This record gives sequence, C-alpha cells and structure tokens, in this order.
Amino acid sequence: MGKESGKGFVVWFTGLPASGKSTLAESTARALREAGRRVEVLDGDEVRTHLCKGLGFTREGRDTNIRRIGFVAHLLARNGIVAIAAAISPYRAIRDENRALIGDFVEVFVECPLEECKRRDPKGLYKKALAGELPQFTGVSDPYEPPLMPEVVVRTAVETVEQSTARILGAIRAKGYVG
Ligand code: ADX
Repeated sequence: MGKESGKGFVVWFTGLPASGKSTLAESTARALREAGRRVEVLDGDEVRTHLCKGLGFTREGRDTNIRRIGFVAHLLARNGIVAIAAAISPYRAIRDENRALIGDFVEVFVECPLEECKRRDPKGLYKKALAGELPQFTGVSDPYEPPLMPEVVVRTAVETVEQSTARILGAIRAKGYVG
C-alpha cells in the first residue's frame, strides 16, 4: 500500500480582480508540493475555459461557477488532495455554502485596495470597465462582499508574495492540515 500523504483540504482564495489570487494560489501550491502534498489549483480564469465554459458574470453565472469549483474541490479534498481555488467568488453566501459542503476549508481573503487593483490592471479590464465597455465588472459596476471571518487576510499592497505565502501556510498549519 502507498504511504499516507495526509488529509485533503481546500484553500479558497477570494478577492477583487488583480488582487493577487492566482499568484498566491501558485506560490501556496508550490510550497505545499515541496512539503510532499498532492495539490490541484482550480483558477477561475482557467475553469471558465472548460468546466465553467459559457457561464457569464451575472449573479447566477458567478454562483454556478463558484458552486462547480466548490464541488470539484470537495471531490479532490475528500480523496486526500489539497484543492486550491482562486476565483473572485464575490458573494459571501456561496463561499459559505462551499465551506459548509467541504468542511476542511481555509478561506484566504486577498485584500488589496481598489485603487491599487486599478493601477495594476494586468489584463486592461479595469480600464475597459471604467470606460463603460465591460458591464458588471467586479469592483467597478458589480459588487464584492469581503469575508467576515476568513482564516487569513493577506494584504498584497503592503506584503511581498513571500510574506503573504508564509502567512497562508501559517493559517493552514494552525488548522493542523500540515506539520
Ligand atoms: S467569479 O466572479 O465567477 O468568481 P472568476 O474568478 O471565475 O469570477 O473570473 C474572473 C475573471 O474573468 C477575471 O480575472 C477576468 O479576467 C474575467 N472577467 C471578464 N468579465 C468579468 C467581469 N464582468 N467581472 C469580473 N471578471 C471578469
């Protein structure tokens, strides 16, 4: 029989567009793989090209997207995999629904002031949204509900990627998921 590789769990990144979710999801995945864990990253931008293809950005589209990611993360976690989700996931109720479904859940609020996200704008989408060319854009013309009690808040405008990653790993350790 193979060696027990540890209990599965889900790390859920939520935050505004360009707040740093994907970067921190990857750095956290790397660190956990180095610690010997099997890890899968479910990134909103990527899953919207297959699992969630065709879903839009209405509340209904976003809720379906987040429920699907949560469902797959649940399947992975219950089989010993660390599932890392990185999606805006703007609605508190659906994030909490996933927390209740999954149980072993570490919510990471990637906090970054809107002004800094607009300044970063790596895909030019804030610019388009502010020009009125992209409707229902989170932070500009669509809501974002921050978590009330996340396991950890990282402040990407003032922390380095290394500092934020270390704090996320600290929160995972505090829950007893890794040694
Ligand atoms: S979520 O709201 O359903 O959680 P998700 O994280 O999967 O969103 O996808 C967000 C990505 O879709 C953004 O990084 C951006 O590239 C793209 N996008 C396109 N239109 C929008 C929009 N109206 N609001 C937010 N993101 C958008």
